[in-house]
Amino acid sequence: MKLTWAGLLALAGTALSHAYHDHDEIPEHVRDELLKKWDQEWAFSGISSFAHLTPVKCLVDPNQRYDIAIVGAPFDTAVTYRPGARFGPRAIRAASARQMPGAAYNVRAGINPYSSWATVKDCGDIPITPFDNGLAERQMYEAFLELGTRPAVTPSTSKQGTKGISAGKAKLVTLGGDHSVALPALRALYQIYQKPITVLHFDAHLDTWNPVRYSAYWQSEQSAFNHGSFFHKASREGLVCNLTSAHAGLRTRLTGVDDGDYANPGPEQGFMRIHADDIDELGGPMGVVDAIIKRIGLDAEQPVYLSVDIDVLDPATAPGTGTPEPGGWTTRELIRILRGLEKLNVVGADIVEVSPSYDNNAETTALAAAQVAYEIITSMVKAGAGEDLGGWYGRKESLTAKEEAPEPGWLNVKQELIAPPGPSKFQMRYQNEN
Ligand SMILES: *[C@@H]1O[C@H](CO)[C@@H](O)[C@H](O)[C@H]1NC(C)=O
Repeated sequence: MKLTWAGLLALAGTALSHAYHDHDEIPEHVRDELLKKWDQEWAFSGISSFAHLTPVKCLVDPNQRYDIAIVGAPFDTAVTYRPGARFGPRAIRAASARQMPGAAYNVRAGINPYSSWATVKDCGDIPITPFDNGLAERQMYEAFLELGTRPAVTPSTSKQGTKGISAGKAKLVTLGGDHSVALPALRALYQIYQKPITVLHFDAHLDTWNPVRYSAYWQSEQSAFNHGSFFHKASREGLVCNLTSAHAGLRTRLTGVDDGDYANPGPEQGFMRIHADDIDELGGPMGVVDAIIKRIGLDAEQPVYLSVDIDVLDPATAPGTGTPEPGGWTTRELIRILRGLEKLNVVGADIVEVSPSYDNNAETTALAAAQVAYEIITSMVKAGAGEDLGGWYGRKESLTAKEEAPEPGWLNVKQELIAPPGPSKFQMRYQNEN
């Protein structure tokens, strides 16, 4: 007798179980029992997806809808120094394992981003070719456009969901990949919003380099697509709003013998520059937040792209990256700054340049990147919550009795958001007390 596997399984089924032949016969209580017993995941169990969200291949399934899509861009053939960021999405997903959706309430924001109004999905990776960067650019652009033009689950007419120019539109959070993935992302956003995008760029480096910096003689059109020149290209293509964009966390070396790179006209000038050291002059993370908001504004009609190169952090806290520069911000400082930016009109974001082979056993870099993604997603969800949630940093008056109310957090004091950077409230109080 010829026995197939299916045959064997069927035999085993008859002998050992209750012989349910198809789906419908299985009684409800049996299903309930199974769910009660096994529908649980530990932080360390399960197939690795971002924050244990059910992974879906959104690119091949047009029925997949979301308000926020997390998408991997495993691409690293445009780097100038250490490669390896193609493994970034995997590492960040693995490092996000302690973000259990049921236990991901963000105390500072007053919201659990995974169980609020927004449908958040891990849409898997874009299968990007490692053989041809021109083709890779196109694949990423088309994938971002495909995912970014699907109508959001939450319609623009809903009380919840994003307001203003991105109402009813899905938002993408890209896990890089080297930083050049931001160029196709900006091209797609330009298509979607039909206007130049404000770029808020956290990085040790400018990434607005004219490609001649790398070689004046050996040039091709394709060589301009690299992880140091993509903002130059983006600016020249008119994708970047020159009046509202900003770099934050800079500490790069320039070319030549003076500040020429900063003084020369060019796309570099379209960005306000905040250096890593400025955090001290500005009075800490809050001062950085104020300076950024003053530059970018809180305009619901102006889309903002938030691009976080993990090398904005000091190599002590994020060693696993393509072009490390000592003297960067700490993880706490970066997270505090990002939390302070929750009211920006962020329509898309990336976390890039995580190169796990240079990370350590404790996954320090990938953990930081996963936390950055969590904070960005939290802020996106909070922005569309349709009510003033308060949250620990911006507690509502009504939630706290007057007499025990803390000083109003800087977040809910409007004037402070637009005031020029100066000593923070906290600092002034500290000075007065001394
Ligand atoms: C921004 O500035 C660059 C360089 O001057 C220019 O090429 C580009 O067109 C400008 N972008 C917009 C949107 O005006």
